[in-house]
Amino acid sequence: MIKPLIIANWKMNPQTLREAKKLLEVTKKAASKIRNISVVVAPPAVYLFPLAKDVRGNRIAFAAQDVYFETEGAHTGEISMRQVKDAGANHVLIGHSEVRARGETNDDTRKKMITALSAKLIPVLCVGEITRTNTGEYFNFVSEQLTTGFAGVSQTALTHVIVAYEPVWAIGGEETMSPREMHEMTIFIRKVIVGLYGAPGHKVKILYGGSANEENAAPMLRDGNVDGLLVGHVSVDTQRFSALLESLK
Ligand code: PGA
Repeated sequence: MIKPLIIANWKMNPQTLREAKKLLEVTKKAASKIRNISVVVAPPAVYLFPLAKDVRGNRIAFAAQDVYFETEGAHTGEISMRQVKDAGANHVLIGHSEVRARGETNDDTRKKMITALSAKLIPVLCVGEITRTNTGEYFNFVSEQLTTGFAGVSQTALTHVIVAYEPVWAIGGEETMSPREMHEMTIFIRKVIVGLYGAPGHKVKILYGGSANEENAAPMLRDGNVDGLLVGHVSVDTQRFSALLESLK
């Protein structure tokens, strides 16, 4: 397997830059002990510049948690792709379920994928069903998120695109998906992307997110057939996140 990619999604934490710097210090230290993984930190946007300016050239890269699809202009409260890129991000989360819950549509994610790629940012398209029933309807839901999200992405851009599958029911809590279930979903996601692009669809990295922790991380990477993890609440708990990285040694 290629070098696993671990994205730390700090969400709206911590509350001060001072704490954010401390958290980054510990994250950097923990990451430096593990060879063969890549760590990307997605802090709140206001911390991007002050954090990223000190770690250029380091093993840690940065992501923005959400960015607007317009490139400039009268969009109060929004941030552009070029702005986050200039602040030190090279990845951007697109379509996180918490952003979708505030009204983001599949079509918005499509536009953001296009603007991200033209700003030379790596988009991480987040997909995942809200609930699961045994009718298998969630496959259609995820397929639609992927098909619309990728609609403006060219085949040549695929090496720079990541998909993070995060079933909403597994986010932030105790309930998590089993690596076996993820294995099935990884195959499904791959099938959808290869259906859109043919063999080059294999270049897209697939991550798992949803209560990823120090116990399930290694089994998920090993048996879930994923290229990495998107970690939420555990990524702001220094002890647990260090243990998670350690478990991947
Ligand atoms: P969680 O969040 O790890 O707290 O479940 C993951 C995410 O929402 O990206």
